[in-house]
Amino acid sequence: MNNKRIYLSPPHMSGEELDFIHEAFSSNWIAPVGPHVDAFEKEFCRTTGAAHAAAVSSGTAALHLAMIIAGVRSGDEVACSTFTFAGSAFPIVYRGATPVFIDCEERSWNMDPQLLEDAIKNRTQKGKKIKAAIAVHLYGQSADLDPIMDICRRYDITLIEDAAESLGATYKGKYTGTMASIGVFSFNGNKIVTTSGGGMIVSGDKEIAEKARFLATQARDPAPHYEHSSIGYNYRLSNVLAGIGRAQLHVLQERIGKKRAIFSRYFLNLSGIPGFAFMPEAEYGISNRWLTCLTIDPDGSGCTAEEIRLALEAENIESRPLWKPMHAQPVFSGAPAYINGVSERLFRNGLCLPSGTNMNENDLSAVINCITKASHA
Ligand SMILES: Cc1ncc(COP(=O)(O)O)c(C=O)c1O
Repeated sequence: MNNKRIYLSPPHMSGEELDFIHEAFSSNWIAPVGPHVDAFEKEFCRTTGAAHAAAVSSGTAALHLAMIIAGVRSGDEVACSTFTFAGSAFPIVYRGATPVFIDCEERSWNMDPQLLEDAIKNRTQKGKKIKAAIAVHLYGQSADLDPIMDICRRYDITLIEDAAESLGATYKGKYTGTMASIGVFSFNGNKIVTTSGGGMIVSGDKEIAEKARFLATQARDPAPHYEHSSIGYNYRLSNVLAGIGRAQLHVLQERIGKKRAIFSRYFLNLSGIPGFAFMPEAEYGISNRWLTCLTIDPDGSGCTAEEIRLALEAENIESRPLWKPMHAQPVFSGAPAYINGVSERLFRNGLCLPSGTNMNENDLSAVINCITKASHA
């Protein structure tokens, strides 16, 4: 971090984390195994309604394991939201598979189910088979899962929910990450609940969670010596970090309340500026509003998102463009993509505003005043 006055989404500890860390130290469970790891998994299930969970070292690791468990291998294709962070798509390539990028809907900024089906049909015509799909719940809002799950069922595609940004958000009353065959979460430092770094893989199928635990601990077969009949990974979450996660779960609902209040405050003060449009909340669920995001139409407002970002930067306030779509990333050039222009427009005009749950009234006013001034300049 380079000394900003206000950051985008910094970690926010409750204080209780230290008790759990002390407990880990005093019991000497300083390893990627231990009572906090077991308890964190159980408490995560209780919090989200997931049936089974395996705690791992990052969201990216969780997705990599999900790819392996879904049977994705070299030569396969995997459909993935194009409007996302690269951590959603990299694990496809770790398996030697090809991502097929799918654009998003205006109303949710998440995977467009119709485009997904078009892509599947088109890949089939080309003699390709989409083996799995990764639906991302971006910026804390659920994708429209019912039609996506229905399509995946009809075409025999394993669906993975990337709920890295959406812990605690709901879709038709259920928590994101818990509805598809496999769900993954991230506890990276910028997330609504953090362990500094960490992730979770959840499933309704006990065998999937057990397989994830097995692969994440170097695929050790049951034997007194070290015996391996599969390739493993060192992906388990540390017991110390799981302790931090347990304390963080206690404040999840409070954090969601604060994130939503931050969104409302920005909305109230800035949505009247011509050309400013905030991320919509689809009627089917409740977003955790991980980051407050908006688009700025230069024709309507007379200023650009980049001008606003630079004005904030000049006051030492961090903001960031929305995710650059994966199909536009140099590393994925040439990957098949089914595009409708929505993610490209969002990237061109979009901005994430500071949304840290430790922001106070002065911080919010500073951001709002700076944007108001810059938009009238
Ligand atoms: C949508 C999305 N997917 C995957 C990841 C990867 O998670 P991690 O950073 O824990 O590896 C992140 C964030 O970091 C993310 O925002």
